[in-house]
Amino acid sequence: MRPITLEVTDRVKEGDGIATLRFDRSFDVSPGEFGMFWVHGVDEIPMSFAYDDGVTVRGVGEATDAMLSLSEGDTFGVRGPFGTPFDVPDDDVVIVGGGTGMAPVALLTEAASANGADVTTLIGAGTADELVFEERLSRVADVRVATEDGTAGYEGLVTGLLDDVTDEKGAPSNVGSCGPEPMMSAVLDRFDDRPGDVQLCLERYMKCGVGICGSCCIDDTGSPVCSDGPVYRGDELTNGEFGVYHRDGAARKKYF
Ligand SMILES: Cc1cc2nc3c(=O)[nH]c(=O)nc-3n(C[C@H](O)[C@H](O)[C@H](O)COP(=O)(O)OP(=O)(O)OC[C@H]3O[C@@H](n4cnc5c(N)ncnc54)[C@H](O)[C@@H]3O)c2cc1C
Ligand code: FES
Repeated sequence: MRPITLEVTDRVKEGDGIATLRFDRSFDVSPGEFGMFWVHGVDEIPMSFAYDDGVTVRGVGEATDAMLSLSEGDTFGVRGPFGTPFDVPDDDVVIVGGGTGMAPVALLTEAASANGADVTTLIGAGTADELVFEERLSRVADVRVATEDGTAGYEGLVTGLLDDVTDEKGAPSNVGSCGPEPMMSAVLDRFDDRPGDVQLCLERYMKCGVGICGSCCIDDTGSPVCSDGPVYRGDELTNGEFGVYHRDGAARKKYF
């Protein structure tokens, strides 16, 4: 599949080193699906859709910094949407997000709410400046925030907030999460008696994005995250690398 060329129509700063780029074409996307975004002359990188016509980028290196420097009228390419998305609940769900994981969390929150679900969304960040989509999601869900430095909402890790919300509302029927893997692993630990009710959206090093090259396969099942995932149920992840390590572009193990 060849990349489609997109033009940036809007750029919104979301926080420190984080911006949303809207583009001139809408895609039929489900929560958790991603595209392979081609930044001209730099690299092609995976990125979740945060809107049907937009992505939210955090600058962590050459390609993401180059995306962040784009402005209205600039162009880039995309292949996709790719991947297996979240099953969207229609009863009650707690969704836990942080970092760049907020893109799928936003789409899942909106889709579950549109499906009639009672949605509680917990947003975690290091500090208040890094909180993304609080206002957007408050329109459709009970949104709570946690910051590690206490500059907004609950002071501490978002999993501490999850414990408080579970005490207050009771255990949710469904759980969804996307963000740093140690966070998702801690979320899964809290529901280890019923991991099949927990959906987790993973990031792995990706090249082809369509299940051919093997770069993104996880131990010990060999499952390609780009096509079987990025969304998995907790019972598919209990005995492998999840929460322990991932691999870099040269397939070396990098421990979390
Ligand atoms: C399914 C998926 C969805 C993602 N969604 C978002 C999103 O919505 N917003 C966002 O800002 N980022 C997202 N990312 C992460 C983003 O792809 C990486 O931050 C980006 O590839 C880093 O490239 P770089 O050149 O800026 O940095 P580099 O200097 O190349 O790398 C910085 C870090 O990113 C990792 N990385 C580099 N290339 C890849 C790659 N091809 N795949 C995965 N990790 C890589 C490196 O191992 C390193 O730890 C997503 C990743 C995946 C797999
Ligand atoms: S990125 Fe090639 S198999 Fe997943």
